Amino acid sequence: MTNIDWDALHAAAKAAMHLAYAPYSKYPVGAAALVSDGRLISGSNIENASYGLTLCAECALLGELIRGGGGRLVAFACVDGAGQKLVPCGRCRQLLFEHGAGTLVLDTPDGLRTIEEMLPQAFGPGHLTEIESKA
Ligand code: THU
Repeated sequence: MTNIDWDALHAAAKAAMHLAYAPYSKYPVGAAALVSDGRLISGSNIENASYGLTLCAECALLGELIRGGGGRLVAFACVDGAGQKLVPCGRCRQLLFEHGAGTLVLDTPDGLRTIEEMLPQAFGPGHLTEIESKA
């Protein structure tokens, strides 16, 4: 946790926030993450005239993760339109859990938190394999 460059993550999240497409909510969001191989990835929210189809910034970030060859998320930061730290929504916590290293740390307005703290008792890929092995 000590060798993570949180300033760089925040700068990347802020830069992504400025690229958001949020004409409906006017609530731009930028997210950035450090990947296990050292990559720094980011994403912005992408809204849609069919409101329910809105993609959160985390969705775009995960697109970049997978497109860049995958890997595990080690550290994550997210900012609002004022550049202030933002917590990921519930759905996005689930998305981050799926691709997070077990030790994924998020910078929240309340300080650094692990993914386990942000999404206790998470449902995940392990549950599916449990079912398969019981069948
Ligand atoms: N939003 C995100 O991009 N990520 C979150 O974790 C919270 C919400 C976006 C979705 C929508 O475009 C705007 O914020 C307002 O809800």
